[in-house]
Formats: sequence, C-alpha cells, structure tokens
Amino acid sequence: MSKKVLVLPGDGIGPEISAEVDKVLSLVNEQESLGLALDQALVGGAAIDAEGSAFPESTWQKCKMADAILLACVGGPKWDSLPPAERPEIGGLLQIRSRLDLFGNLRPAILYPQLADASSLKPELVSGLDILIVRELTGGIYFGQPRGIREKEGGIREGFNTYVYDETEIRRIGKVAFEAAMKRGKKLCSVDKANVLEVTMLWREIMEDMSKDYPEVELTHMYVDNAAMQLIREPKQFDVIVTGNMFGDILSDAAAMLTGSIGMLPSASLDENSKGMYEPCHGSAPDIAGQGIANPLAMILSAAMMLRHSLSCAATADRIEAAVESVLDKGLRTPDIYSEGMQKVSTQEMGDAVVAALKA
Ligand code: IPM
Ligand code: MG
Repeated sequence: MSKKVLVLPGDGIGPEISAEVDKVLSLVNEQESLGLALDQALVGGAAIDAEGSAFPESTWQKCKMADAILLACVGGPKWDSLPPAERPEIGGLLQIRSRLDLFGNLRPAILYPQLADASSLKPELVSGLDILIVRELTGGIYFGQPRGIREKEGGIREGFNTYVYDETEIRRIGKVAFEAAMKRGKKLCSVDKANVLEVTMLWREIMEDMSKDYPEVELTHMYVDNAAMQLIREPKQFDVIVTGNMFGDILSDAAAMLTGSIGMLPSASLDENSKGMYEPCHGSAPDIAGQGIANPLAMILSAAMMLRHSLSCAATADRIEAAVESVLDKGLRTPDIYSEGMQKVSTQEMGDAVVAALKA
C-alpha cells in the first residue's frame, strides 16, 4: 500500500525549499522502494491568489487523506492587509493545525558540531546542545475567543485576544512532554507566567499533578521571562521544555539561534495518534524569497522527522540526517549558516549536495 505524502509549499521561500525536499524524497523513495505517493496542494497566500481562500476545501480534502503532511511556510506582505481571519497565517496555517488537531509541536534544537561557529553564543556554551521544545499548538492565545479589534466609547479602538487553556488541553500536551522526557534525559521544565496569568497558574498546577505519574522525571517550573534569559545564559541546563502556544513560538526562535540558524530547525506537529504535519520552524522569509539563498535543511530535516514518526521509515530518516551532516562536514553553507573559510552555496546547490550524499 502506498503512503500518501502531501507537500504544501506555501509562500515566500516555501516553493524553493520544497523543490529541494522533493528531490530528496523522490530519491529515497526510488532507492528504497518506500512506496511514497507524493502530492502537492496550495495553502496560504498562494491559495488565496489561486482560489480565494488560504485553506481551500480541495487542500483540506487532501490533508484528510494524507498519511503525513510536509508544509514549508506561509505568509507575506502581499496579504498583510487582508482581514485577520483571511490571512495566510490565521486562515491557512492555524486552520490546518486546528482542524487536524495537531496540538503537540516538537521542536528539537540540536547543535550540529560543524555549526558551532555559526551560533551567536560561545562554542563552549552550545557545544553538544540538544533541547526539545514541546509547544502546545492548537490552543492558548493564538486561538482563544473572543478576539478582534473593536471600538470603545469615544471612538477609541482596542485590540483584544483571549489566553485560555482548559485542563484537558494542558494534560494532553503535558503527557507528550513527560513521555518525551522519559525517552531523553528525564528532565522537564514547564515554562509559564504563573506569577501574573491565571491560565498559567492552572497550567503549573496540572503539570505538578501529572508529575506524580512520572516519578522518574525531574519537573521544574520557570517563568517565561527567566526562561528566555536562561536559554541565552546557559542553554545546556535544559532537556525538554513544555510550554503554551505563544511562549513556545517565541522560545523556539531563540533556541534556533543557539544552533546557528533558524534555517536548521525542523518540527513535528502531531495529533493524539501521532498523525502529523511536519514543518520547519522558520517563516516564509519574504525578504529573501526568490533569490535562491534560503536554507532548505530545516525542511529536509522535517521530512526526516516525518519518515521516522509518521511513516515508519526510521532507517531512511537516519540516512537523510547523516547526509545533511556530511554536507556540513564538507563545509557547504547557505548564507544564514556561513562562516569564514566555508563554501557558500545556494538553496539548489545545498539540495543537490544532500542528494549526492544520499547517492554516495
Ligand atoms: C511558527 C510560525 C507560525 C506560528 C506563524 C507563521 C503563524 O512562527 O511556526 O513558529 O506562529 O506558529
Ligand atoms: Mg514562530
């Protein structure tokens, strides 16, 4: 039986990096007779332009049928003046995550030793870095109702959002995080703002309660402002971090920089049954789109995560990750991870090099 993989190239640098992933997946599919059936669909701004909606019905149907989804990135200035609910981010990406119930977002920040020089921190602070951020992805302030921009008395406008989590949402992301910690270093840091926000007071209480079921895991709590500081001060103190949607969004960008570039960070967004969508943590980078300089490795590594977690092809995932390491060993660098003495390459050259390494 074939395994249906749906690729959503999206906007900005999305189509460029997707083209490289397509080469990699087509090759391993052929080499190892994996039986992957690769298909594509529109999402985000590209879908708005072609079909008038950031998440068209035809894309939704394909998403439901797929065994796994690989998404590049969405959004761009062209669509920023649309009403919020119609924009690529809210109407496209957040909709897919929510309709597929992809509440568990795993964002591993691993420093490839080859990239120690590309990190903004001293090599000794980041060498060997291996953090997993577990971000809740379908709740919190990014989804809470009511939301909007309204007019108050006197004609003054105010914007408002709602930061809300119920117990079941906290428990299910807690379970993902505790179980991830069990498979790793057994240290879990729950990040909240429980000194100010009731919603995260409840979050902390539930995490504390859940820790009774995981006596081997050492649970700690940290306020988000401190967590941001600690990530920069001494990142290796962390093993697994669990946090809500917004804090996870912010902290994962910070963690990305520790590893050299956000262009290196893959992620998995999973539902209760580990069906998933795989996405690089970076956005659509409209400022560099179309120039052939974007780093395709975060999406290639996301494809590896997809093969491992959703398609039972762990050995292929290992091969792809090893191929990425070997191109880094050869000194090939897109501009975002470039440092002196290395060889600067384009998006396409980087993709070709991974393909060549897989053929070697
Ligand atoms: C991410 C991105 C998205 C998010 C944007 C593009 C809506 O920043 O995946 O981290 O905030 O979730
Ligand atoms: Mg983000």
